[in-house]
Amino acid sequence: MPIIDWDDKFLLGIPQLDEHHRQLVKLLNQAFDDFTAKAPLEEVGKLLEALADYATYHFAAEENWMKANGYPRLAEHVAEHDKFSARVTEMLRDVSADNPTLPLELLTFLKNWLVEHILTTDADYGRFFRTQTA
Ligand code: FEO
Repeated sequence: MPIIDWDDKFLLGIPQLDEHHRQLVKLLNQAFDDFTAKAPLEEVGKLLEALADYATYHFAAEENWMKANGYPRLAEHVAEHDKFSARVTEMLRDVSADNPTLPLELLTFLKNWLVEHILTTDADYGRFFRTQTA
C-alpha cells in the first residue's frame, strides 16, 4: 500500500514540475514499500538518499522557473526548500542499525512535508502562473 496516493489535486498545470512531483511521490512510495517489506536498513537508506537527491534537483528546477517567471515569493519558498533539505540530510545521517525507528520517522516526515508543501506552498506559484497566463 502506498504511503501517498497520487491525486490530481497535486497538479499545478506546469507539466515539467508536475512530473517532478509525480516522481517524488513514486520514489517515496518505493522507499515505503521497501521499508514495509523489511528490506535491509541500508537499502531503504539508499532509496531515501535517491529521493533526497531528486528533491534537490527538483527544487533547483522549481526555483529557476520562479526566477524566470518573476514569482514574487521566491525567497520564502527557497527558505522552505533549504529547511527541508537540512532536516532530511540530518535524518539520513542518523539512519543506522542503532536507530531502527528513524526510517519510519523520516518516511512520515517526507510524506507530511511533501503533501503540505505541494498543496500549499507550490500551489501558490501554480495560482500565480494561472493568473499570468489567463
Ligand atoms: Fe515542488 Fe517547492 O517543491
